[in-house]
Amino acid sequence: MARIHPTAIIEENVTLGKGTSIWDNVHIRHGASLGEECIVGEKSYIAYDVKIGNRVKINAMVYICAGVEIEDGVMISASTTFTNDRFPRATFPDLKSLRPSEPDEHTLPTLVREGSTIGAGCIIGNDLEIGRWAMVGMGSVVTRSVPDFHLVLGSPARSIGTVCKCGKLFHKFESAESGAYACECGLEYKITDRRVSENKLNAEIAEDAEKINELAYA
Ligand SMILES: CC(C)(COP(=O)(O)OP(=O)(O)OC[C@H]1O[C@@H](n2cnc3c(N)ncnc32)[C@H](O)[C@@H]1OP(=O)(O)O)[C@@H](O)C(=O)NCCC(=O)NCCS
Ligand SMILES: [Zn+2]
Repeated sequence: MARIHPTAIIEENVTLGKGTSIWDNVHIRHGASLGEECIVGEKSYIAYDVKIGNRVKINAMVYICAGVEIEDGVMISASTTFTNDRFPRATFPDLKSLRPSEPDEHTLPTLVREGSTIGAGCIIGNDLEIGRWAMVGMGSVVTRSVPDFHLVLGSPARSIGTVCKCGKLFHKFESAESGAYACECGLEYKITDRRVSENKLNAEIAEDAEKINELAYA
């Protein structure tokens, strides 16, 4: 069962997975779905039909608009704002009627891939992807897709290096390097023209790490 703070507003047809916690004054619009063991911090907003995977951490005051999809294990830090309309207007040209707020052909998607982290106070543009295990530095403005495992920062956000699944920076970009790199945690990666791929052995190392974790917490 999900834990829901009494001040949270959960609209109809919202799905909340087992072990998910919704803190105070969160608003989740109709049709949204969250997987298992997610945390949604206070005063965050999740729009209509937004899909969120398992074990996603959303801090306080995060704004997630329609058209956003978030995969498993993503962290979204406090005060991050997503956007879905590139040239927004409140009304039609005669100023006599409001444009509808429901998603329409101007609503552009954003996909946040598994394991990635978005730092505090970021603005995320639309029609783009944040890659698997990528990391966005605090206060960044993301205007283009972020490749898997890249660390981006600034306004506009630019890649400065690559981060491991454990969160550590394992390589800083100086040019369009290629090569083999290892993080101090043991995971290994190959970089080809700034594209990062995982060493096949990573799955085994991750499995070992899981076993070690199990032993440590037994
Ligand atoms: C991007 C980040 C991972 C880099 O960490 P780091 O490798 O330890 O970086 P350093 O502090 O050594 O800084 C390296 C350089 O990048 C700059 N820098 C660091 N973070 C930056 C950011 N978010 N935006 C712009 N520049 C940044 C530093 O000023 C420094 O520049 P300098 O060499 O000219 O002085 C970290 O700064 C960050 O933003 N983490 C996310 C924090 C967060 O939002 N947490 C949320 C949960 S509490
Ligand atoms: Zn590592």
